[in-house]
Formats: sequence, C-alpha cells, structure tokens
Amino acid sequence: MIKKGIILSGGKGTRMSPLTKAVNKQLLPIYDKPLIFYSLSVLMLAKIKDILIIVNKGELSQYKKILPNGKNLGIKIKYIEQNSPKGLPDAFKLGKKFIGKDNVSLILGDNFFYGKYLSKKLLDCVKLNKGAKVLLHKVSNPERYGVAKIKKNKITSIKEKPKKFVSNLAITGLYFFDNKVIKYSKKLTPSKRNELEITDLLIKYQKENQLYADYIGKGFTWLDSGSIKDFYKTNNFVSAIEKKKKFKIACIEEIALLNKWINRKNIINSIKFYGNCEYSSYLKKLIYK
Ligand code: TTP
Repeated sequence: MIKKGIILSGGKGTRMSPLTKAVNKQLLPIYDKPLIFYSLSVLMLAKIKDILIIVNKGELSQYKKILPNGKNLGIKIKYIEQNSPKGLPDAFKLGKKFIGKDNVSLILGDNFFYGKYLSKKLLDCVKLNKGAKVLLHKVSNPERYGVAKIKKNKITSIKEKPKKFVSNLAITGLYFFDNKVIKYSKKLTPSKRNELEITDLLIKYQKENQLYADYIGKGFTWLDSGSIKDFYKTNNFVSAIEKKKKFKIACIEEIALLNKWINRKNIINSIKFYGNCEYSSYLKKLIYK
C-alpha cells in the first residue's frame, strides 16, 4: 500500500523560457490555479496525505506562499530543495528520509491527468506492495516520450525517445514504487545529458520482472504540460471543461472535503486566504448549498 507521494516541482523549464526565467513552471497558471494544484490533486485523489514537494533551490518561499504546510487541506506537505535538476530519480535520493521504509509514488509537477474513474484507477495503483507500476497512454508521437512494450500487464522493454517505432505506449509522469527505489536510485549513474534517467531506474525493475503497467485509456486525458504549446493545450482543456461542466478540476479543498479530511471551517479559512476571487466563490458554493 502506498501512502506517501513526491511531487517533482523543480526543473529548468528551458522549453518555456522566458516565462520560466523568474517564476517556476509549476507556479504558472493553468486557467484559474497554479499548475502544481493539478499534480497535488492527483495524489490527493489517490488518498495520499503525506506529501513531499521537491523545488529548485531558492524557490521555496514562493511555494510556501501558496501551499504552506497542507494543514488546511488535512494533509502534510514537506519541502526539499534540489540544488540543480539532476534528473527524476534524484527525487528518491533527496527524499530518502521522507520515504523511510515505505513505498512511494512520484508525480511530475507538470503532468496533467483527467478522466472518469481516475480516482478508482489511482486507488488501485496505490495497492502496490512489490515492484513498480507505471501508467501508459497511447500517443501519436511516441518519439517524444519514453515508451514501453508490454506482455499481459508486464513491461518487457523500455526505450527513451525512440527514433524508430517500437511502441506507441508512452510512460506518463506518475509512478508507483516499492522501497527498493531508494537502493536502485543510488546505483544509477548520469546519462550523456548528465542526468539520472527514470528509464534506467524502471529498467532495473523490469530486469527483475517486477515492472507492471496500467493504462490511461479512452476517456482519459493525459497532458505533459512542459512546452508552451502543450501548456496552452492544458489551459484550453481546463477552461473548456470548467466552463461547460460548472465544476473545477483540481480544486484541492473540494477533494479534501470529499475525502473527509477537512470541514466547513477549513473551507472558510481558505476563502479568507484566497480573498475575493472566482475560486473563493466556488469554495463558498461547496459549503453554502
Ligand atoms: P523535464 O521535463 O525533464 O524538465 P523541465 O521541466 O526542467 O523542462 P525543460 O526540459 O523545458 O528544461 O522535467 C519534468 C518535471 O520534473 C518538471 O516538472 C520539472 C521536474 N524536475 C525536477 O523537479 N527536478 C529534476 O531534476 C528534473 C530533471 C525535473
């Protein structure tokens, strides 16, 4: 069972420069809330209450302004600064103390997931006891992603950004690991681009025949919001859904309330905190029905 989660929320954000020169990508808006709300909401939907957010050195105070400690959401948020973006598996080296003897999930701060039964899928994924699990999504441009070949529900091979077609199943930015992830991450060496690679980490599990796959199938949306084009695709998607369906995606207070982690009083605190805005009006509707 996985009860802890890490959000990787640092990174260079080179693809989105100059937007990311002064502000971290995950603090930029996706429609009406910062990008980090979306990854945080995914962990909360998976009923994960113990969360570590990894941020770039020097950016901690900005994050704490919007997500201080999780108390008002009924969760625990801790932070660690990463000196420089050393690669995704660095999360497990930095988060060693946070993880302790437990299993852990990792979500990339710029990944967006949405769809019917998403919570059900997530609650299934956190049941993992042994090995690692990734969520795969069929894409039309596999050369841009790490892709996996599968047999039944097990992954038989992985290739990072393949030039020739191997599979169109992209590995999304949400992962579930057993405690071996710390040991395996320590053994990794930097790649040609001088980063620890998540692919190399997953291969360690695959070699042990312990890398499992689940799918984000039809009816689900996965958007890697790391480039300007994709960032605005996510923006357009959220604004369209929220306008049409009259509910908010990734309203973290609403999820906390539904999970029964907080009460009306916490929502009132949040309304005071956010001030007079559309997001607060939405929160008001949750408690004054
Ligand atoms: P990337 O997409 O690899 O990188 P990036 O966001 O820095 O963007 P760019 O390629 O434009 O420079 O990172 C995926 C996510 O993981 C992103 O949200 C940033 C985060 N990240 C870290 O927090 N630390 C790291 O060491 C790396 C590599 C990424």
